[in-house]
Amino acid sequence: FSYSVSHDLRAPLRAIDGFGQALVDDFPEHLPGEAKRYLSRIRASTQHMAQLIEDLLKLARVSRGPIERRTVDLGQIAQQVVGELQQRDPGRAVEVSAWDGMRAEGDPHLLRVALENLIGNAWKFTARSAKPRIEIGALKDRGRTTFFVRDNGAGFEMAYADKLFGAFQRLHSATEYAGTGIGLATVQRIVHRHGGRIWAEGEVGKGAVFFFTLAIAGEEAAAAEPVEEKAHG
Ligand SMILES: Nc1ncnc2c1ncn2[C@@H]1O[C@H](COP(=O)(O)OP(=O)(O)O)[C@@H](O)[C@H]1O
Ligand SMILES: [Mg+2]
Repeated sequence: FSYSVSHDLRAPLRAIDGFGQALVDDFPEHLPGEAKRYLSRIRASTQHMAQLIEDLLKLARVSRGPIERRTVDLGQIAQQVVGELQQRDPGRAVEVSAWDGMRAEGDPHLLRVALENLIGNAWKFTARSAKPRIEIGALKDRGRTTFFVRDNGAGFEMAYADKLFGAFQRLHSATEYAGTGIGLATVQRIVHRHGGRIWAEGEVGKGAVFFFTLAIAGEEAAAAEPVEEKAHG
């Protein structure tokens, strides 16, 4: 449902934005300054709404369809994502470290979308840090791997740590940090579809860490091959 609605909303929105631009372009001398300012507000709003629709479409897409299970190199995907962010934002100097050999079992496309959102957030919320740093790594404990994306950016109040994953939930103002609040809902959906868990820790002004697990390899193997698992156990 949200997929087709989002889809149909795009065309009229493009028309509103396009004619707004046409007004500015075709009547440069006729429009008083105040009218131009109103028009630019209208266009900023339509563009924000277009982004909302785009993000809702992405959320709908990651929720549908079969999920692939492959061995994925999360470190490599992280490097690519960082490369793209740097290219889009060449003025930023962010120190990024992505650990090597972070293998995961999961859907390559969905895991990329998850990392795009988490690393994209880390990138965005370190925009005002003196020495922005992002670390993407993995913690291993008894065969269970917890991946994390850590930054030293704006952080957030721990009291709201669970709220962040709800759609449209934002703790920072749009004027300070642009966004729609749909990214983490998308990441959570992806992680849940993999049978994993996601949670966050943060401190205002110090930074944030987002942790996630995917299905526990041992449990998956146990479900698929009970005899094998026993033999090893
Ligand atoms: N790395 C981070 N550091 C601080 N706050 C964060 C971080 N990532 C997410 N948040 C908080 O969670 C909210 C929701 O994130 P998200 O769903 O990705 O929305 P958006 O990026 O569009 O704001 C953000 O608006 C912000 O308040
Ligand atoms: Mg985001």
